[in-house]
Amino acid sequence: MENIIKDIDIISAEEAQACDFKTTADENTGKSKRLYIESYGCQMNFSDSEIVASIMKENGYDTTSEFELADVIFLNTCSIRDKAEQTVRKRLSQFNTIKKEKPELTIGVLGCMAERLKEKLLEEEKLVDVVVGPDAYRDLPNLVSQAEEGSKGVNTFLSREETYADIAPVRLNSNGISAFISIMRGCDNMCSFCVVPFTRGRERSRDPHSIVQEAEQLFAQGYKEVTLLGQNVDSYKWSPEENNKARLNKKGEVTEIVNFANLLEMVAEVSPQLRVRFSTSHPKDITDEVLYTMKKYDNICKYIHLPVQSGNSRVLDLMNRTYDREWYLERVSKIREILGDECGISSDMIAGFCTETEEEHQDTLTIMDIVKYDFSYMFYYSERPGTLAAKKFVDDIPLEIKKRRLQEIIDKQSKLSLERNQMDVGRIQEILVEGTSKRSEEQLKGRNSANKVVIIPAGDLKPGDYVKVKITDCTPATLFGEVVA
Ligand code: SAH
Ligand code: SF4
Ligand code: F3S
Repeated sequence: MENIIKDIDIISAEEAQACDFKTTADENTGKSKRLYIESYGCQMNFSDSEIVASIMKENGYDTTSEFELADVIFLNTCSIRDKAEQTVRKRLSQFNTIKKEKPELTIGVLGCMAERLKEKLLEEEKLVDVVVGPDAYRDLPNLVSQAEEGSKGVNTFLSREETYADIAPVRLNSNGISAFISIMRGCDNMCSFCVVPFTRGRERSRDPHSIVQEAEQLFAQGYKEVTLLGQNVDSYKWSPEENNKARLNKKGEVTEIVNFANLLEMVAEVSPQLRVRFSTSHPKDITDEVLYTMKKYDNICKYIHLPVQSGNSRVLDLMNRTYDREWYLERVSKIREILGDECGISSDMIAGFCTETEEEHQDTLTIMDIVKYDFSYMFYYSERPGTLAAKKFVDDIPLEIKKRRLQEIIDKQSKLSLERNQMDVGRIQEILVEGTSKRSEEQLKGRNSANKVVIIPAGDLKPGDYVKVKITDCTPATLFGEVVA
C-alpha cells in the first residue's frame, strides 16, 4: 500500500492540471465493483466516457474518483497531436506500481489512441489489458470479464451505424446545470492534418427524437443548458430512410429529413428555460438557416465556434478545408449581419503547417484582426501518421519557427479577447449561474450567451438561476458584473 501512496504523490495537483484530464466522480449505488475513468481530448471524449460509465453501471460497476480504489481503470485517450499521446503514455507508466501491487486490476485504453494503435498498444504497454475504440464500447463488459480471466482483448471495429442513441449517459462531467448531448459521431471531412476521420470513422447522425428526449429528461432533472456535440454539427442530417427505419408516405417518399437547423429548433422548443449550445461548426457547412434559427430563439446561445485553422487560402487548400479566406470572411459577415456584434465567435488555429511562409502566417494574424475572435484554441502543427498531410507533404517548418508563430498568434488573441471583453463593459446581459467562483465563496460564476465567464456577487442566487447582470469590468479571460433589478 505504501508504494501505491508514493505513486499517487508523484501525480501532484499541478501535474494533474497540466495533463488536463477529467476523472469520474464518486457514485455509490451499491454495486460490487468500482470503475475509474480518466478522459483526455475533446468534449466528444468526455461525453463518450459518460456512455462508457453507463454501460459499465449496467454490468455491476459504480464510478470512483480515486484510482487506487478501482477494480477497473480506463484511460479515454486522444490522438490529435503527438503531445496528447505522450501524456497518456506517461500516465500509463505511472500506473505500473499500482498494477504490480494489485495484479487483478484491469487497465483499459479507450478512445482515439486505442483506435489508432490497436494491438500495438498491447505490445508496447505491457500493463494494458484491453484496447477499445470509440464505436466498440458495448463490448467493454465482455472484454473486461475476459481480462479478469487472464486474456487480453482488442476491439477497434468502426461502425457506420453506432450512435449509442439508446444509452442514457451517467453524467460525470456535469455541474448539474449544463450537460453534453452527442448528436453525431465520426467525420467525413479529411482535413489533411487531422487524425479524427481515422480514429472515429464515418460520419453518422443520431435519431433526432432520441436527442430531444434526452434534452427533455435533462430539463426535467433540473438541467438548464445542453451542448449539442459533433465534429461538424452543421452537417447533421438524419432521415428515416438513411437510418433504415423508413417512414414513407403513400407515394413511397421519405417524409422526414432533419437538418441541423431543424434539430436546433426541435431542441430549443423543449423549454425557453433550457439554453442550447453547439460545437463544432465547420465554416463550409454553417448555413444562413442555422443563423436565422439562432436569431429566432432567445434560448439558443449566441456563440459560434468556427475554426479557421489558417487565414491564407493556399494553406487552407493544402489543409483540405474546402473553403478559402474569402468564403470564411463572408460567413463571418453573415453572422454579424444576422446575429449582430454581441454574438461570440471563437476559433482553432494551426501555426506552421507544411510549407507555410511568413507572409501566409501574417494572413492568419490579419484574419484574426478582421474577425476579432473572442477566444481561440491555438496549436502548432504536429504531424500525425497516416494523415493526408503526412503522406503528401514534408513537415518542413522548424520547431522554433512554429513556436514563434504560435506565440504571435497567442499574443494577438489575448489583445483581441481583452478588446472584445471591453466592448461588453456597460452592457446588460443574461447570465446562467453555474456555481461558486474559484476565488471566493462570496462570488458566483455564470456564463453569458456568448459563452463568456461572468463573476458576480453571490447575494441570494444559486446555481441554475438566470439573472440579468450589468458588466462592470473585465480581464482578457473574465467579465465581472453586478445584478440589475
Ligand atoms: N472538428 C473540428 C476540430 C476537431 S480537432 C473542426 O473541424 O474544426 C480540434 C483542433 O485541433 C482542430 O481544429 C485543429 O486546430 C487542431 N488540430 C487537429 N489536428 C492537428 C494537428 N495535426 N496538429 C496541430 N493541431 C491540430
Ligand atoms: Fe478533423 Fe477536419 Fe473532421 Fe474537424 S472537420 S474533425 S479538423 S477532419
Ligand atoms: Fe482527440 Fe479523438 Fe477528440 S483525437 S480531439 S479525442 S475526436
